Amino acid sequence: SAGAHAPSADRGAFRGRTAFIFAAIGSAVGLGNIWRFPAVAYDNGGGAFILPYLVALLTAGIPLLFLDYAIGHRWRGSAPAAWRRFKRWTEFIGWWQVLITLIIALYYALILAWALNYTVFSLDQRWDSHPKGAAGFFGEYTQALEGADVDISFDYVPTVLISMLIVWVAVIVVMALGVQKGIAGASTIFIPLLVIMFVILVIRSLFLPGAFDGLDAFFRPNWGALLNPSVWIAAYGQIFFSLSVAFGIMLTYSSYLKKKTDLTGSGLVVGFANSSFEILAGIGVFSALGFMAQAQGVRVDEVVSAGIGLAFIAFPTIISEAPAGALIGVLFFGSLILAGFTSLISIVEVVIAAVQDKFGLGRVSSTLWVCVPIAVVSTVLFSTTMGLPLLDVMDKWVNEYGIVAAALVSSLIVAYVVRGMPTLRDHLNFRGTFHIGRWWYACVAIIAPLVLAFSLVGGTIQLVT
Ligand code: PHE
Repeated sequence: SAGAHAPSADRGAFRGRTAFIFAAIGSAVGLGNIWRFPAVAYDNGGGAFILPYLVALLTAGIPLLFLDYAIGHRWRGSAPAAWRRFKRWTEFIGWWQVLITLIIALYYALILAWALNYTVFSLDQRWDSHPKGAAGFFGEYTQALEGADVDISFDYVPTVLISMLIVWVAVIVVMALGVQKGIAGASTIFIPLLVIMFVILVIRSLFLPGAFDGLDAFFRPNWGALLNPSVWIAAYGQIFFSLSVAFGIMLTYSSYLKKKTDLTGSGLVVGFANSSFEILAGIGVFSALGFMAQAQGVRVDEVVSAGIGLAFIAFPTIISEAPAGALIGVLFFGSLILAGFTSLISIVEVVIAAVQDKFGLGRVSSTLWVCVPIAVVSTVLFSTTMGLPLLDVMDKWVNEYGIVAAALVSSLIVAYVVRGMPTLRDHLNFRGTFHIGRWWYACVAIIAPLVLAFSLVGGTIQLVT
């Protein structure tokens, strides 16, 4: 492939299927599993949410995962290179995915840096000394990023900068080690460690007073919710984000697999492992929230939160109130770091692989060319006043538009414009444990595009009104 894509030095490869599965689970299991799923399920029918969730997993998540695998594995390249080999003019989809992952990398690393700081803060629970508690403390902590003139009790700015540096040095070391030693190596160590830490956290939380009130709130089914279309859209949204489909990640990872690999069997393992972790996280988070509600004498629904608020305000409060809270803090923030790190490297890999394929660079130089600028921009961006509002905007744009558009455009182009489904199906069936056929067509060509179009339109309406 001369011309636009210079042949790369050595692309690297996964040693086998297990290495790939660990890397893929590492990407899928991320912040979204821990801080997004529990609140989404709770808000959308509680126990009843399991039905739309499973339907979304089987009719869109796993089918689109197979699509990612098939394109990456059949055309063996980074996102732009693989799309280009699929059909020359579809290269733009790959660059769109590179843009999205680049943007995510900018703020994902910051959240990891916070989690690193908060692991240490959990030891002395220093937010207790703030007059407005954990919420006030977090406000000051992030404001200090702007260099604002606030009364702070220790040096926050260097604290965050040091953590940012640690995160990026770790990312660069892992990525420079390459696909097998770096990506698969880190995931094979971190994912089992994450599971062990998280299971201990869940068990600890289950024994907190009030835990069962939390679980009751979480699992209590509201069957009426199933009649609400927005509940179904939420289920599909959660599945897309959670499985990291259409980001170019799974496409890139599968390009490093040996030619003769069972792709469909691997996809099922990844899909179900990710959902199991998600449900486990729901149990842990809601046990802890149940405890928090009881400690404060309020109802569970008054303490439910998600995302940054859950991790950096609710959990610090729980850590202060619970016996042996420091242990909960280390387990919780440690889990966030492990889950987030293995996702961050998968995000960065999309960009590194694209640069490597495009310019024919070696692994180490493409790692440096990609990571150093992202690290610098990310650090500078979030040390200014624009930082936090920008994080919000980027997160919304990526999840509500960027990724929905990427998934929609790629499924439509593959199914209707290029008509590539038969080739891809044959490729998947070549070594797969089970054969896929008409149902896969229906999911990729009809169900997924319909849901994606709905959410794109719905999101736009919400934005306008
Ligand atoms: N799938 C990850 C999660 O559930 C998030 C993620 C999104 C990872 C985008 C990579 C890219 O948290």
